[in-house]
Amino acid sequence: MAISTLMLTSLFSFAVASAIADAATFNVTEMAFDDEYLPLFGERNLLRSADGRTVKILLNQHSGSGFISSNLYYHGLFSASIKLPSAYTAGVVVAFYMSNGDIFEKNHDELDFEFLGNLWGREWKVQTNVYGNGSTSRGREERYRLPFDPTAEAHRYSIVWTNTTIIFYVDEIPIREVVRSSAMGGDYPSKPMLIYATIWDGSNWATSGGKHKVDYKYAPFASDFSELILKGCRLDPIQELPAHAQCHEQELDIAVADYSVMTEQKQKAMMQFRREYMIYSFCYDELRYPSIFPDCKIEEEEKEKFGRTGHVMRRPSSKPEVMKGTLPVRKRRPKRRNQARSRIIISETAEI
Ligand SMILES: *[C@@H]1O[C@H](CO)[C@@H](O)[C@H](O)[C@H]1NC(C)=O
Ligand SMILES: *[C@@H]1O[C@H](CO)[C@@H](O)[C@H](O)[C@H]1NC(C)=O
Ligand SMILES: *[C@@H]1O[C@H](CO)[C@@H](O)[C@H](O)[C@H]1NC(C)=O
Repeated sequence: MAISTLMLTSLFSFAVASAIADAATFNVTEMAFDDEYLPLFGERNLLRSADGRTVKILLNQHSGSGFISSNLYYHGLFSASIKLPSAYTAGVVVAFYMSNGDIFEKNHDELDFEFLGNLWGREWKVQTNVYGNGSTSRGREERYRLPFDPTAEAHRYSIVWTNTTIIFYVDEIPIREVVRSSAMGGDYPSKPMLIYATIWDGSNWATSGGKHKVDYKYAPFASDFSELILKGCRLDPIQELPAHAQCHEQELDIAVADYSVMTEQKQKAMMQFRREYMIYSFCYDELRYPSIFPDCKIEEEEKEKFGRTGHVMRRPSSKPEVMKGTLPVRKRRPKRRNQARSRIIISETAEI
């Protein structure tokens, strides 16, 4: 990256950070790994720190690894500080997400952060996604660059899910908000979910649509998770559903907590982040979705940077680059404790 770009990037981060200086880090208690999480797969590739508050998950030629919350959660704040693997990471996927796909196979809910590795010297990409009640044919992917090097130190990634809104945060900056509307219907996640973190081989889609595979010469790939927060209405997996009756009190707390409230300042910071860093949005992908989703707020200023494929246009030119595209394919969802994790494929071309 050129020095001038770096300088601009840090100036920008500073501007965004100070725009929301009031919204200090979320005032909630962090936990030890064993308090709320269990190994999910590749247990030999999951290394706890001596104090039990940080966990390292590895991908090597034998296995990826991952962990899962021991309870289901209905609404709340779900957060971790994550440091991503450095150096050559093409094909590597790190995911921090919530899902109930193992319980509701046909109509599951899901909220995702996915981190997609890259070639030498190229930056990680971040993807967010939202599914409700099995809306897998309506992927709501957004993809972003980051205003910092996510392999240099840990940064906080948070998902807030309430009865009325979903907010994805990177550090204190909200990067995406999904406001519930009746038009969204079941597409808004509404059933308790488990929280997962995984690292796995996404060779067939993660980097430039699968062009660059994981190279195990550079293994192990390691990602650190710390400052773990699971703050919400906790439900035992065998407890009777529905949840909303049992969660009334916590719901009220969650609804008014700092992290759930989108202030004008946060809104501004979000718009600024999106204008600068968003590189794909399903809302602008007219080829894949000819009619617009009810949860898409079309921002003209935001939109003019995107082609009809929903991908940001790299260079303003009289002839917008046409990105080659395959339609997304929902891969077979592996069973729990399986090695990999199914994902949507979005085609991608011109990488930076
Ligand atoms: C943080 O939360 C605790 C209890 O949840 C509360 O007593 C304290 O006042 C809060 N601090 C701030 C700065 O809001
Ligand atoms: C949550 O949303 C559902 C469906 O929209 C509604 O029936 C319920 O009353 C809401 N609960 C709260 C606590 O707002
Ligand atoms: C969720 O999907 C099921 C079928 O899989 C359907 O019966 C139900 O009405 C849907 N719920 C909502 C809220 O759309």
